Amino acid sequence: MSRLKIAVIGAGDMGGNHVKGWISAGHQVVSITDTDSDRAVKLAYAYNIPALYSDYKEAIDDPQVDIVSICLPLVFHAPVTVYAAGRGKHVFCEKPLASSIEAAEAMQQAVERAGVQFGIGFQRNYAKGVGLVEQWASEGRFGRPLVFSSDLMQEVRPKVAMHDANGNQGPVMDACCHYFLMWQTVFRSKPKKVFASGGILAKGRPEIAHFEQLAIDTAVITVEYESGDIGTMNVSWGLPKKSQIRGRKDRIYGPKGGAEGAFNSFGRAAVQFELYEGDKTETVTVEQPELFQQEFEAFVEAIREGKPAPVGFRQGLDMLRLSHAVLESVRTGTIVYL
Ligand SMILES: NC(=O)c1ccc[n+]([C@@H]2O[C@H](COP(=O)([O-])OP(=O)(O)OC[C@H]3O[C@@H](n4cnc5c(N)ncnc54)[C@H](O)[C@@H]3O)[C@@H](O)[C@H]2O)c1
Repeated sequence: MSRLKIAVIGAGDMGGNHVKGWISAGHQVVSITDTDSDRAVKLAYAYNIPALYSDYKEAIDDPQVDIVSICLPLVFHAPVTVYAAGRGKHVFCEKPLASSIEAAEAMQQAVERAGVQFGIGFQRNYAKGVGLVEQWASEGRFGRPLVFSSDLMQEVRPKVAMHDANGNQGPVMDACCHYFLMWQTVFRSKPKKVFASGGILAKGRPEIAHFEQLAIDTAVITVEYESGDIGTMNVSWGLPKKSQIRGRKDRIYGPKGGAEGAFNSFGRAAVQFELYEGDKTETVTVEQPELFQQEFEAFVEAIREGKPAPVGFRQGLDMLRLSHAVLESVRTGTIVYL
């Protein structure tokens, strides 16, 4: 098994990242599928990809395809994974895992029945900053317990489907999962209980008025871990157009020190963090690898060695359960235990 053949399904933002990442990882993208033919053509042309489809089933049925790389809106993650696994193809699917726990379980059953590999796209957890903070925390440089505070502030998403409660389900599902996985990785622990308050800041906005039900777009979240560490997050996708309010840097701190920076950011060649130990401050600069390439290399290594995918159902389900617990806490006004 040398160069694997990849069918990329979805030619939007993530479709472009996957094509580039698979090629950088040394594999061959053999087809692009999108119901929007202009998008598919543009992406295929940019990377000289030979085949185009509008129906994902046709792309997956191509006998040469080894891996199906899913870059579709959330509601399609389950049906496309189930179909691909049923055809004996390995699946790499963008986050979040699925629209519901039932859909996720159907995906897992199909993958296990077929004996194929399943990976999920949390490339941001491969960022150098996450590894560094995990190392600093495990070396005891900050002491224990730790508080990890993250922040994500954005205007109403230009991709308005992100605000559909029956579609991408808003930022708690779509965006917070990257931060939840980072906290879980750094704490090396599982969430125990959650309390969150939230609402819909963008309720009156005309561009999202057509949705039957709007997703929660703003939340203040506190998660307590079994280790005693705490993750906190302020998230909003409800700010006005072109708002200059930006999310603050991540900050982690404990009794002996802490660190600040955009730990799980991607798309930058070099990243800088502030490290605080006692009364000392140090600026640490690291080179950032190409994250999609890294996650695809790790996935293919798992296929080759017949070991579980490094990031798969376990992490996908953990993040889904935590996102659901946050939304339940917002809805009920109660602490939710996991
Ligand atoms: N890992 C990350 O950092 C990250 C960042 C952004 C988005 N995502 C995830 O990636 C997934 C895709 O997001 P995106 O930003 O690329 O969306 P997008 O809207 O840019 O692209 C989705 C594409 O899918 C196509 N499509 C929709 N239904 C289809 C169908 N049935 N068959 C074929 N094509 C279809 C659309 O025409 C569109 O071109 C989502 O799950 C999102 O949460 C991940």
